[in-house]
Amino acid sequence: MSYTIGFTGKGGTGKTTIASIVIRYLAKKSPVLAIDADPNSNLGDMLGLTAEDTVVSIIDDIAANIENLPAGVTKERLVESRVQQSLGEGEGIDLLAMGRPEGPGCYCYPNSLMRGVIGKLEKSYKFIVIDNEAGMEHISRRTDRKIDYLFLVSDPNAYGMRSAKRILNLAKELKVSIGKSHLIVNKVRKDLPITENAVGDIGADKVSFVNESMDLLEFSLKGRPMKELDEGAEIVKMIYKICEEAKWQ
Ligand SMILES: Nc1ncnc2c1ncn2[C@@H]1O[C@H](COP(=O)(O)OP(=O)(O)OP(=O)(O)O)[C@@H](O)[C@H]1O
Ligand SMILES: [Mg+2]
Repeated sequence: MSYTIGFTGKGGTGKTTIASIVIRYLAKKSPVLAIDADPNSNLGDMLGLTAEDTVVSIIDDIAANIENLPAGVTKERLVESRVQQSLGEGEGIDLLAMGRPEGPGCYCYPNSLMRGVIGKLEKSYKFIVIDNEAGMEHISRRTDRKIDYLFLVSDPNAYGMRSAKRILNLAKELKVSIGKSHLIVNKVRKDLPITENAVGDIGADKVSFVNESMDLLEFSLKGRPMKELDEGAEIVKMIYKICEEAKWQ
């Protein structure tokens, strides 16, 4: 059984950045399936990987050409093999991009098909890391499956924290199965330190603080790919420490 780690939180708090460093950590030890579940996806850019196609466009394309399915092949099998071909492959990491559902209508069918496909795929990986879009959409659409470890990422301010609390409460209300929840208060400034007391009780099992990183500021300013970020950089060391303490292995 693979172990699923999810990332959620308000927009721009650092979900994708931290997810990409967690993926890098895990990939050194075991195969990882990195799922980019944000329609404005950039997890691939941060990992330096490209998925050839998205799950949503594969499903839409097959649905639009349903009369021309090859004989003897089920829709599910076809989706499965095309999704497999679409993966962006890296060292110890495969990238799966969900894509953007377009137009009105019910996505229950694609969602359930998608869950089935991921259910089959996941057997080949020890870890699945899901980078979600900002906000609560993914929770309320119930596209999340069982999450063993949920990271809630927040800025060091009341808005981000309130947002993390709302997401966690909604997940509990909708009975999304969450093994353990971990709040990361990210981008903490050294001149404006923040304590656990100031965070208040958002209901997460664990709280960690990650400092604002000059390396990341420079990387985003220059548009440099995160994979060039040195292992010795303070931000990488901080996230690796969080990973070690989580004891996923
Ligand atoms: N600890 C940090 N110090 C400095 N900058 C950071 C830190 N963490 C993230 N950033 C920067 O914040 C910006 C937003 O990060 P990121 O894209 O990871 O956020 P996100 O939560 O995934 O955003 P979105 O909601 O749009 O998907 C990026 O420019 C990133 O480099
Ligand atoms: Mg993101």
